Amino acid sequence: MNMYKKVTGISNPLKAGISHFFSTFSKRTVNNKLIFATTNYQLRKMSSVTGFYIPPISFFGEGALEETVDYIKNKDYKKALIVTDPGIAAIGLSGRVQKMLEESGLNVAIYDQTQPNPNVGNVLAGLKVLKQQNSEIVVSIGGGSAHDNAKAIALLATNGGEIGDYEGVNQSKKAALPLFAINTTAGTASEMTRFTIISNEEKKIKMAIIDNNVTPAVAVNDPSTMYGLPPALTAATGLDALTHCIEAFVSTASNPITDACALKGIDLIDESLISAYKNGKDKKARTDMCYAEYLAGMAFNNASLGYVHAIAHQLGGFYHLPHGVCNAVLLPHVQESNMQCPKAKKRLGEIALHLGATKEDPEETIKALHVFNRAMNIPRNLKDLGVKTEDFGILADNAMNDACHLTNPVQFTKEQVIAILRQSYEY
Ligand SMILES: NC(=O)c1ccc[n+]([C@@H]2O[C@H](COP(=O)([O-])OP(=O)(O)OC[C@H]3O[C@@H](n4cnc5c(N)ncnc54)[C@H](O)[C@@H]3O)[C@@H](O)[C@H]2O)c1
Ligand SMILES: [Fe+2]
Repeated sequence: MNMYKKVTGISNPLKAGISHFFSTFSKRTVNNKLIFATTNYQLRKMSSVTGFYIPPISFFGEGALEETVDYIKNKDYKKALIVTDPGIAAIGLSGRVQKMLEESGLNVAIYDQTQPNPNVGNVLAGLKVLKQQNSEIVVSIGGGSAHDNAKAIALLATNGGEIGDYEGVNQSKKAALPLFAINTTAGTASEMTRFTIISNEEKKIKMAIIDNNVTPAVAVNDPSTMYGLPPALTAATGLDALTHCIEAFVSTASNPITDACALKGIDLIDESLISAYKNGKDKKARTDMCYAEYLAGMAFNNASLGYVHAIAHQLGGFYHLPHGVCNAVLLPHVQESNMQCPKAKKRLGEIALHLGATKEDPEETIKALHVFNRAMNIPRNLKDLGVKTEDFGILADNAMNDACHLTNPVQFTKEQVIAILRQSYEY
């Protein structure tokens, strides 16, 4: 049963926590598309209770990988499935973890064909390997794509059905298989969130599964797995983390805990992302980015996101573009439009102080975001990413059906979303 439904009480939508966000929209199917709708009735039923969700255990620092293998060994599991992608297999990291687990006495199967923006086919193929081996636990190694695929596999292993059945919020009934998520990008924070994003290639959309049951049992951030992350991936994944901080900070579901996480995350990204981009082996910068992306995850896992992600998910689903790059290009333009909300404008001003400005000024924040993008060679606009203007209508429709936009400080019309797409295209 959805625990949020038990909560009754007051009233102020802007101050509502993420549990209220979840309880304020219902799911319905229109033209075979799942959409979420807020209603005044539901808003009136919102409560003053705020939930805060993170994994029960997280390991950080060099050696966290070995610590995790020890932890698994002590649990006396016998069979594990590793879920990863071809890039991680090629650098030998998944093979190394496989060997460590086998030396600890586990029987290990591996699915290493997860694609970026993982799709339904990846979930089914991984599930098949899991069933053949009868795995008791899942170990994901990689960035958001490997973790999201592993979460979906672990959820279906215990709940059955198809992954599309769980689109929306807390649709599953049973705990997933225990998931040990070893993160190699900094990042999506998928190693610690209750979100799973799976592409439906037929419909050219990304499905958002937001479910407490997909929260990993253990989240692992060992910077030594990230020293070889190439500069372009460091930039894209680091700017995804910055987007998480900013969207969570201006979210209508933010609270003092998520604010603290978001601002500290921004401080660390401001100090360290460009250093990690320039020198991947910079131990301090990589360690800071591990903490930054986790803090960003704590913020958005509980305050949710906004229109940057709602639109970026569509670009990823439609054109197979990297998630972090889409966010980086959209971020300044969506936040500029968010300034029409006085509270968001004030908060965007506050962020400037965490990005090196000497006074609270939202325009300084927008400028700093463009400077970040230029410093790390992020494509300038959507045109350079190959987005087509004739797709703006369908992209806007799909973005308005993405649950992430519900906590954006301004609820845009379709025309306003198209205007943001145009601005991000022509900039
Ligand atoms: N579940 C969530 O909470 C959440 C949040 C944000 C984004 N996402 C999803 O995450 C996905 C994007 O994940 P991502 O940006 O981490 O990228 P990714 O997982 O798609 O990885 C991109 C590439 O980087 C390579 N790579 C990863 N780590 C490496 C390392 N240490 N060294 C060398 N190569 C490495 C991979 O092999 C892959 O080729 C998208 O599908 C997005 O929708 C999920
Ligand atoms: Fe993201």
